[in-house]
Amino acid sequence: MRTTTARAYPNIALVKYWGKADEELILPAAGSLSLTLNHFETTTTVVPAPDAETDVLELDGALADPGQTDRISTFLDHVRALAGRDDRVLVRSRNSVPTGAGLASSASGFAALATAAAAAFDLDLAPRDLSRLARRGSGSACRSIPDGIAVWHAGDDAASFAETVPAPDMRMIIVTVNRARKAVSSREAMRLTAATSPFYSGWVTSTEDYLEQMVAACASGDFTRIGEITESHALRMHGLIQSTVPPIRFLNPTSHAIFDAVAEARESGIEAYSTADAGPNVAVIVRPADAEALAEKLSGFGDVRVVGPGPGAHLLTADDAVPPADAVNPAAGEGSRA
Ligand code: DP6
Repeated sequence: MRTTTARAYPNIALVKYWGKADEELILPAAGSLSLTLNHFETTTTVVPAPDAETDVLELDGALADPGQTDRISTFLDHVRALAGRDDRVLVRSRNSVPTGAGLASSASGFAALATAAAAAFDLDLAPRDLSRLARRGSGSACRSIPDGIAVWHAGDDAASFAETVPAPDMRMIIVTVNRARKAVSSREAMRLTAATSPFYSGWVTSTEDYLEQMVAACASGDFTRIGEITESHALRMHGLIQSTVPPIRFLNPTSHAIFDAVAEARESGIEAYSTADAGPNVAVIVRPADAEALAEKLSGFGDVRVVGPGPGAHLLTADDAVPPADAVNPAAGEGSRA
């Protein structure tokens, strides 16, 4: 085993994943398609701790809470099973994304952890197998393993991985409305939707249909069709989520105002389309030439950042290792060593 460091970026789905066919294996009810960003990265260092009894997680310079540590430990059990080893590890992870606020931090987090941990345990995985491994941490994480625009296939464990598909160049404007951790996690809300919404089966079949159309629109470079599907599918997902019992709403009045402002921009000749994940922040796709002008128009709604297609998860050198919590904040790392 060795100490390794990896970096991964979040992805924002243009055709959303919302619902599982298998909770244990994290298999999606339908395929999805996303853009991996070139900002808001997660960097993760995995340090072997062969004498430790438990895994330890340091997140953003502080010891993580037991719930977060349990979740990565369960994930690391899959890595240990693949490697045929039992060693515990110390994981140091640093996010430049607000954790849990609907900016896909679990995607970049588990993609970086999968990449670093696979290398730490000397696993030589093909890209699709690394994507399948990341999926076990968080479904959307499998789409942050490949570069740029990725499709995540529905199917059984062997078939359910993400890979890059051809698509035209585009930009995404991220409008951060609220950095707070969301009240209901995606995982919990997804479960509640499948269990209680009368519209769930229609959602699954219409997602399959949209995904097929989206892959074709990407292949032919049809930005208008890509945008129409993106916005329509996002609104369908939020409508579906609001139809759960009890209802859940992730979008707030500012999110709706951004969707309206983007529709107005379209009327005035800037072609752009909105989407939002399980939170109030809005992501807008736009042609590269229009990105700065539209970002300026949206800057009154929150923090605005223009991002482009980013790289897949990758290993870094030892120079990029995340520093120990006690080096960042001397009190935070106390008791973190086994
Ligand atoms: C709204 O991948 O976070 O962002 O598989 O339960 O970990 P789990 O869920 P997660 O859900 C992401 C939901 C979404 C849509 C998407 O990214 O496709």
